[in-house]
Parts: sequence; structure tokens; C-alpha cells
Amino acid sequence: MARIVIVGPGRAGMSVGLAARSAGHEVVALAARRPVETDLARSIPLTSSLPDAEFVFVAVSDDVIAEVAKQLHPPGGSVIAHLSGRTSVDVLSPLGNKIGSMHPLMTLPSGEIGAAALVGAGAAITSRSEAVAGALSVFATSLGMRPFRLPDEAKAAYHAGATAASNYVVAALAVAEQLLDAAGVPLSIAEPLVTASVSNAGRLGSLAALTGPIVRGDIGTVRAQRDAARKAGVEGPFVAMGTATALLVGNWEVMREVLS
Ligand SMILES: NC(=O)c1ccc[n+]([C@@H]2O[C@H](COP(=O)([O-])OP(=O)(O)OC[C@H]3O[C@@H](n4cnc5c(N)ncnc54)[C@H](OP(=O)(O)O)[C@@H]3O)[C@@H](O)[C@H]2O)c1
Repeated sequence: MARIVIVGPGRAGMSVGLAARSAGHEVVALAARRPVETDLARSIPLTSSLPDAEFVFVAVSDDVIAEVAKQLHPPGGSVIAHLSGRTSVDVLSPLGNKIGSMHPLMTLPSGEIGAAALVGAGAAITSRSEAVAGALSVFATSLGMRPFRLPDEAKAAYHAGATAASNYVVAALAVAEQLLDAAGVPLSIAEPLVTASVSNAGRLGSLAALTGPIVRGDIGTVRAQRDAARKAGVEGPFVAMGTATALLVGNWEVMREVLS
């Protein structure tokens, strides 16, 4: 079992810390710019000497990882990793060469919910050191995560894909909610439809799983839907998503007249 330090105990840091404790690891300190109240571990100032630990996880916001890394005094020999899917591992280079990142491919809204959600979630492991990548993979596995290697150079594409898989799906549901609401139908009744669509995309591949009027080329149906979307106040996003669908299935020339 490993000793770990969390730097920046926010949503992701607390998720990893609580999951680590559940897995039998010891969280020896939470380093933060202001004291935090939790029974997980003692709170220490960000700029103090960090206690001995096998892993130091820098869980601060993406934009300040580089700045915070310069302020840290980690123990010798620790693996130091940030949790960002888009930030290069090189921002940790002021801290030596046992550096990397472990990005949970999961949405972590709070420590408690996030810790549970990490079990079964993917973990993108990035390091220029094979030994560090191996150590982070073993740690991720111990938390019940499914580690996979991600080259540093592929992070932008990976993170855009992860954002589309999460945020854009939820954005589509927000549009659906407005339209169903206009029809007096709760979104919750569409849950099996949503689940089946996501499941089919996983089994068949996304484009093969697409059905509906845009795939079929039913212009009259899409025109009526657009009118309904206008009345429901979501014409812009509905047309944008319809345009994306038509482009992806190669049906834009047919759909252009109702979606332009
Ligand atoms: N939440 C997720 O769903 C999720 C999923 C995967 C990966 N991640 C990654 O996890 C990392 C943290 O994200 P988060 O969602 O946990 O963010 P968060 O909840 O906002 O927590 C950010 C932490 O960073 C600290 N921090 C921010 N600016 C700082 C500064 N200038 N100096 C020192 N500490 C600072 C915050 O301290 P204060 O409380 O004092 O502001 C807080 O402890 C990011 O790299 C993110 O990409 C997040």
C-alpha cells in the first residue's frame, strides 16, 4: 500500500484521496493554499516541505498546475503526477523526472461521488518514463480504475473526445428536455431511449447506431421539428446538432435546405 499526498484537495483531488483510502492506501497530507477541514488527512500549506510519500498528486486546476509545481517542495523519490487530461506532463519538469499524469476519464462532481465513480472508470496514464507510467498504472488499478497509456502528444485530441463524450451528450439532453417539456413529457421517461442509444453506439460504432429523420433524409419531418424547436426556444442548438448529424452521416446536401 502506498503513502500519497494530494496537492489541491478540490473535487478531483478529494475523489482520488477518498478512493485511495478505501483501497487501503494512506493519504498522509493535503497540501492547500488555505486549510481544509476533513478527516481524510492533515492539511498543510502548499509551500511547506511535503511528507514522504510514494505518490504526490497535483490536483489543482489545469491553468495553474505549472505555477503551483514551481512552489512545491516534494520529498525525493516520489512519483509526481497531475490529473489533467489536456495539460502536458512537461509542466511538472521543475520537479524532476519522475513525473506524469493520471487523468480519470470520469466526471467527478464531489469527493464522495467521485470516489465511487472512479471504480471502473478509465485512467489515462502519461509519462515519458516507463517506470513512472507503470507505477501510476498499478496505483490506478488498485483504485479499481482501468488504466491505459496516452502519449503526451495525443492529449489535445483525447481531451476534446472526452469533452464531446460527456459535455456534448449532456447538452443534447438539455435540448431534448426543453422540447419534451414543451410537449408535456418529462425527460425521465426517455431514459431507456437515451441508454439504448449510448449502448448501441458502444456496440455498433457511433455512426452505425444513428437512426432517425436526418439519416433517412426525411426533410418534411426535420422541417416540422425545426418549427417546434423555434417555439420551444432551442432552434439554434437544435439546428447546430442537426447540422453536425447530417455532416457526420454524409447527408448534408439533402438536409441543407431545412438546416441552413
Ligand atoms: N472534476 C472532474 O470531473 C475532473 C475529472 C478529471 C480530471 N480532473 C482534473 O483534476 C484537476 C482539478 O480539477 P477539479 O475539478 O478538482 O477542480 P476544483 O474542484 O476547482 O479544485 C481545484 C483545486 O485547486 C486549487 N487551486 C486552484 N487554483 C490554485 C492556485 N492558484 N494555487 C493553489 N491551489 C489552487 C483549489 O483550491 P481552492 O479551493 O483554494 O480554490 C482546489 O483545491 C484538473 O486538472 C482537472 O482537469 C477533474
